[in-house]
Amino acid sequence: MAASQQEHQQDNLEVRRGDITPEAYRQVLGRFPTGVTLVTGMDGDEPLAVVIGSFVSVSMDPPLVGFLIGADARTWPRISAGGSFCVNVLADDQADLANAFFTRDGDPWEGTGWVPALTGSPVIPSCVASIDCSVFDVMEAGDHLFVVGEVVNLRDHGTGGSPMVFLGGSYGSFGPGAGLGS
Ligand SMILES: Cc1cc2nc3c(=O)[nH]c(=O)nc-3n(C[C@H](O)[C@H](O)[C@H](O)COP(=O)(O)O)c2cc1C
Repeated sequence: MAASQQEHQQDNLEVRRGDITPEAYRQVLGRFPTGVTLVTGMDGDEPLAVVIGSFVSVSMDPPLVGFLIGADARTWPRISAGGSFCVNVLADDQADLANAFFTRDGDPWEGTGWVPALTGSPVIPSCVASIDCSVFDVMEAGDHLFVVGEVVNLRDHGTGGSPMVFLGGSYGSFGPGAGLGS
């Protein structure tokens, strides 16, 4: 029987509202995998990017996507001032690219090829896909902002790469399991 089907299992951790520490929040939310994206934009002639795991599809009609950004993050206000952004979906062999933009030791754009999307935000063609957006709405959500973008242009780059997965502080790969509904 799979662990998730067992009738009783001792929790590793169980905390309730009021007792939720940053450590407990990270431990439990760290059980949920995300993809890894680079949200890019321009400040004048300067390309900018921030590593974002909280990217999500929001609506088909109209086509909307979203992500959460820390309210005190420094790069996002410079991107949002331009009114647009582009989400670049990283492949599982692009951990160096993710780390270059996360640590920003040196210039992460050096050696990173990019072309302007329709909105002007950088598209990184080596990534799996890109979603070019205009800013549709920005909502306060605790210590983060929920940014919703209206999709201007969708591109599947056809690299053959598999999207990167991020879980519990590590980058990894997607391994296909059972098919939908099987
Ligand atoms: C894999 C990964 C995923 C991340 N996802 C998010 C995210 O969804 N939202 C966020 O605000 N920061 C996220 N970060 C942190 C940001 O990349 C960035 O360090 C932070 O927003 C500070 O940005 P700033 O240098 O512009 O101030 C992530 C970092 C990594 C390595």
